[in-house]
Amino acid sequence: MTHISLEDVSKYFDAGETVANYRVDLEIDDGEFLVLLGPSGCGKTTALRLIAGLETPSEGAIYFDAERVDERSPSDRNVAMVFQNYALYPHMSVQENIAYPLKIRGVPPDERDRRIAAVTKLLHIEDQVESSPAELSGGQRQRVALARAIVREPSVFLLDEPLSNLDAKLRQEMRSELKRLQDELGITTVYVTHNQEEAMSMADRVAVMNEGTIRQIAPPSELYSRPRTEWVARFIGSPPMNLLGGTRRNGAIDLGDAGRVELERTAAGDPGGAPPGDVSLGVRPEDLSVETERPSAGSAIEGTVDTVEPLGEYTIVNVAVGDHLVNAKVTETDVERDDRVYLTFGDGDTYLYDADGILHTESRAREAAER
Ligand SMILES: Nc1ncnc2c1ncn2[C@@H]1O[C@H](COP(=O)(O)OP(=O)(O)O)[C@@H](O)[C@H]1O
Ligand SMILES: [Mg+2]
Repeated sequence: MTHISLEDVSKYFDAGETVANYRVDLEIDDGEFLVLLGPSGCGKTTALRLIAGLETPSEGAIYFDAERVDERSPSDRNVAMVFQNYALYPHMSVQENIAYPLKIRGVPPDERDRRIAAVTKLLHIEDQVESSPAELSGGQRQRVALARAIVREPSVFLLDEPLSNLDAKLRQEMRSELKRLQDELGITTVYVTHNQEEAMSMADRVAVMNEGTIRQIAPPSELYSRPRTEWVARFIGSPPMNLLGGTRRNGAIDLGDAGRVELERTAAGDPGGAPPGDVSLGVRPEDLSVETERPSAGSAIEGTVDTVEPLGEYTIVNVAVGDHLVNAKVTETDVERDDRVYLTFGDGDTYLYDADGILHTESRAREAAER
């Protein structure tokens, strides 16, 4: 088990026109399953390669437990990495593929056999050990790649979008299997993905990355219930949070064409009210109800139905509110295009972001700490 710490690590690439700059400050606990989540190109693979030793930091330090490792070669870090495009040796059997990393490390044959038996059982590929990679399905091949990584008994396990090439059903199966495997082995794991469902379902904590920076690290439930910035709020959820621009005015948030929402309804858990001036009011689609009559009490966001998308389990109602489109995710509705509707929500279901895009309660806490 290994605690990983990246202290003020940055990495600059200067490849002709493009200069990429990544800053990663990150602590990963012993045995933790940490997921790095972010859009393509945000620097996830770079972060993994820094931990693996395939890149050296331009600044900062990387520690495994108390030992500084950023000057160490990949082979001295006892890290196993599995990529999206895992390559098995085509001319070797499954058994030989898995044995290979042990052979080159000089592990004696009986120890090798013992470990291979254990790992193939763990991954449910004991019946395929004599097969060649060409005879296996995509899922089985991915399992062999995982087995080959695990058999070395690494202290850190790095996975870079390992399920992206599998079909949806298999991806889901492998998700729970990987999670179980990691639980059983207790190996500190960093898993990279751009798929938020994957991240939310597997992670102990998710680190959300954007433009080379970690924007928030939190357990999945907290990431969903307290997105610290507008960017994270827009990134998490399906469909993501609705955000409406407004101004604090006379005890309410004035949303322009969308109406107004009384301040006390937006300030849940925050007795200090709302920030002055420009704000964004956020509501998740699943927290909105679609009413055809103006509610007798409380505020509502008023708009006109644009589209209705029935998706079986739920329906997405797209409502034009001023020049915005607001998504509501409801289980039952009979509204139609062009209907005038009122979107209502519970008091605790709104989020306020200040002019800098910071969750209002966060910016207040920060101000209080700075005082
Ligand atoms: N070796 C490199 N040389 C120059 N630029 C690089 C290099 N590696 C990564 N980058 C830059 O980082 C970007 C993608 O980083 P990466 O870590 O692969 O992102 P992600 O895995 O999140 O998609 C590339 O678009 C490129 O600009
Ligand atoms: Mg990548």
